[in-house]
Amino acid sequence: MNAPPLLSLRDLAVVFHRDRRRIRALRGLDLVLAAGERLALLGESGSGKSTALLAIAGLLGPEAERSGEILFPLLGRAPILGRDVGFVFQDPFSALDPVLDVATQIAEPIRFHRGASWSAARAEAVALLRRVGIEPAEKRARDAPHRFSGGERQRIAIAMAIAAEPRLLLADEPTSALDTVNQAQILDLLDGLVRARDTALLLVTHDPAVAARIADRIAVLYAGRCVEVGPSARVLGAPRHPYTRALLAAALSLDRPPPRPLPEIPGSPPDPERDIAGCPFAPRCPLAASRCRTTPPPRTGGPEDGVACHLYAP
Ligand SMILES: Nc1ncnc2c1ncn2[C@@H]1O[C@H](COP(=O)(O)OP(=O)(O)OP(=O)(O)O)[C@@H](O)[C@H]1O
Ligand SMILES: [Mg+2]
Repeated sequence: MNAPPLLSLRDLAVVFHRDRRRIRALRGLDLVLAAGERLALLGESGSGKSTALLAIAGLLGPEAERSGEILFPLLGRAPILGRDVGFVFQDPFSALDPVLDVATQIAEPIRFHRGASWSAARAEAVALLRRVGIEPAEKRARDAPHRFSGGERQRIAIAMAIAAEPRLLLADEPTSALDTVNQAQILDLLDGLVRARDTALLLVTHDPAVAARIADRIAVLYAGRCVEVGPSARVLGAPRHPYTRALLAAALSLDRPPPRPLPEIPGSPPDPERDIAGCPFAPRCPLAASRCRTTPPPRTGGPEDGVACHLYAP
């Protein structure tokens, strides 16, 4: 990657303060995302995927203490949510207003962020509805969200998130509430939309099959760190980190459709309230040596294709 990345995370750490507890959701996350690139964040429940997206979108609550850097080198300023960065949530209802018709909701960011007139924005909203497969678009544009199925609502939420033509689309498990057929269709829709607009996509999933279908690269998260990153074909075809291998073995050993939540790997993830001296995966790793428990693993390879594991240390 010679051009500056669209997004760069450096040593991003997030601690949630709850009562008198300190919950370490991210423990030093490094990632880069190029303009127009599609990156999947893959990891099991609690690995910090949603926290990473919320931090990037600037949506963390006051209980979150953040350190490290979130940079948008190509923008040259702080990103504006809705204009530069779009967000698709797992549950489309959280993005949609129950009382407004859907065209009005899609038109709003077009009007607000791009300065279009109401009538132009509404016409574009109808065209977007058609583009995401809601037909007859003209007529259904006047319906409120409850008149649509779950899959349709997610299509509408996607149309809304891309309406202002953001450079980056963040999507948190956008298909995990849907059945398999809808899931595949929505992924293909997302893929088509971001390709056509050269929008970068950062998609969170716990399902390797979803990552395989849409991502150029995959970053594997474990206990708030990226343990491995690389081109999708390389990560899925020749995983290096023992955690990635365990994750894929578990996912592939079960019948389709992929189970959710992710199938079991023996042992459990580290307690988010405790510090980790060495590799976070060491207690569950079949290949762990004593240094794995005491010394943080060095990162080998670059931010685009690398692994953090003592096995690969030079
Ligand atoms: N607002 C919060 N307050 C306290 N703890 C939180 C908060 N949000 C997340 N956490 C904790 O931070 C850790 C990471 O959570 P996060 O939601 O980012 O994980 P995730 O990878 O998205 O998991 P899932 O696949 O279940 O959605 C977990 O231990 C979670 O319980
Ligand atoms: Mg989550």
